[in-house]
Amino acid sequence: MRVGVLASGEGSNLQAILDKVHGRGGVEVVAVASDRPQARALSRAEAAGVPTRVFASAAFSDRRERDAAIAAWLGELSVQLVVLAGFMQLLDPGFLARFPQRVVNVHPALLPAFPGIGSVEQAIIYGVKVAGVTVHFVDEGVDTGAIIAQRAIPVPDGADAETLRQVLRPLEHELLPAVVAALARGDVTVDPENPRHVRVA
Ligand code: GRF
Repeated sequence: MRVGVLASGEGSNLQAILDKVHGRGGVEVVAVASDRPQARALSRAEAAGVPTRVFASAAFSDRRERDAAIAAWLGELSVQLVVLAGFMQLLDPGFLARFPQRVVNVHPALLPAFPGIGSVEQAIIYGVKVAGVTVHFVDEGVDTGAIIAQRAIPVPDGADAETLRQVLRPLEHELLPAVVAALARGDVTVDPENPRHVRVA
């Protein structure tokens, strides 16, 4: 399965995919795109020999045009699965229509709690005792797509947002590559009667 990754920042989730599943079990990361030229994800991809491209929002008249350009590039590279790994942009519906049920995202909260940005901070402010991470299909909402997999962990006493982020990171780095591998194996099925119900074999 040919995988394209979109990332805006550090790229540690991209790195986990490169380290754990790229080149194995039929998974090939063939494209990494970012909206930010300085994203460390880009240099991580280059180090792994994966083609990269920057789609800065300022270079396009609107999101639809930008996302059409991203989709066209991914299409040229025959990408079959798009992974959002810290991509801090909403995708246009036209993009999602081009990759139906083939766009997944990793989110540092137990959805539907704390969608959107600042979720780790919100979890700390709220005082939750259990936190976690979610990998879900992307739909037109903000972190509202069907959940594929989640991992939960107790919040350490006295943790601040930075501590919790550090606790959650290894969970993301385990869960996201595992879901990518499961998708490549065809082990992820969506119940046609209830598309919110996703089974991972
Ligand atoms: C992760 O916490 C992910 O859940 C969120 O953005 C962060 C990206 O981190 N969507 P990295 O760039 O993969 O290191």
